[in-house]
Amino acid sequence: MAIQRLQCPIVITGGGRRIGLALASHFLTAGQAVIVSYRTRYPEIEQLEHRGALCLAADFSSEAGISTFAGQVRARATKLRALIHNASQWLPESPDTPLATTLATMLQIHVTAPYLLNHQLSDLLCGQGPAGADIIHFTDYVTGRGSDKHIAYAASKAALENMTLSFARKLAPGVKVNAIAPALIMFNPDDDDAYRQQALDKSLMKMAPGEQEIVELVNYLLASRYVTGRTHHVDGGRHLR
Ligand SMILES: NC(=O)c1ccc[n+]([C@@H]2O[C@H](COP(=O)([O-])OP(=O)(O)OC[C@H]3O[C@@H](n4cnc5c(N)ncnc54)[C@H](OP(=O)(O)O)[C@@H]3O)[C@@H](O)[C@H]2O)c1
Repeated sequence: MAIQRLQCPIVITGGGRRIGLALASHFLTAGQAVIVSYRTRYPEIEQLEHRGALCLAADFSSEAGISTFAGQVRARATKLRALIHNASQWLPESPDTPLATTLATMLQIHVTAPYLLNHQLSDLLCGQGPAGADIIHFTDYVTGRGSDKHIAYAASKAALENMTLSFARKLAPGVKVNAIAPALIMFNPDDDDAYRQQALDKSLMKMAPGEQEIVELVNYLLASRYVTGRTHHVDGGRHLR
């Protein structure tokens, strides 16, 4: 049976939960084709598939895992509307894990994966006219401030922020490349009250805005004809506290 090709899909890495899931769901509602990578097969993946998403199991912890995913995308799409690098891990430095392992894991998911996928898939983004396609990197508020408990995480996200500049240069004018740097967007279910209050107090806005805040920014970036090479901060004015 011939493989069915998707019409100019948006690729979202790590789309099985939280922000990535919200983006995938939003695009499907808008009639936009979506390819989602997932590492853990949450029940939500099946729901996305029912709604028409192509969901691909992918583990970016090895170069082979990254390249296999790129190959699967190429097999299912001749053009891409956007590539959204959402997949992430928030590893702290911990006595239980060798420091070199922590650093390598953070660099792998936040630097190696986007670096290789951008190179391996950029030809599918190009050729759709000026500003015809997008790459979006998810970085973090901590790139501008550092983090005493997540040093490798912050450094790897800072590298990703820097790659935003390089890929914006390399791929213009066909592809806009931007970064989104969130601070607190949403809590994890097991975050206790004390942690929640402390986190809320860090911003001027004193709220966890939820995924929709990010969905609206992504929509803005996709619609723009002119915004590229920028980091867009979604942090409730935390830098002013
Ligand atoms: N949520 C916030 O408040 C916040 C704040 C600052 C920055 N951000 C950034 O915004 C983005 C989305 O945040 P989020 O909280 O929605 O993320 P999340 O819940 O941590 O989800 C990230 C996804 O990436 C996947 N992933 C991790 N390592 C992977 C690997 N080696 N290979 C393939 N997939 C992998 C995870 O798979 P598993 O489910 O299998 O672990 C998970 O589904 C992230 O880049 C994050 O750093 C978020």
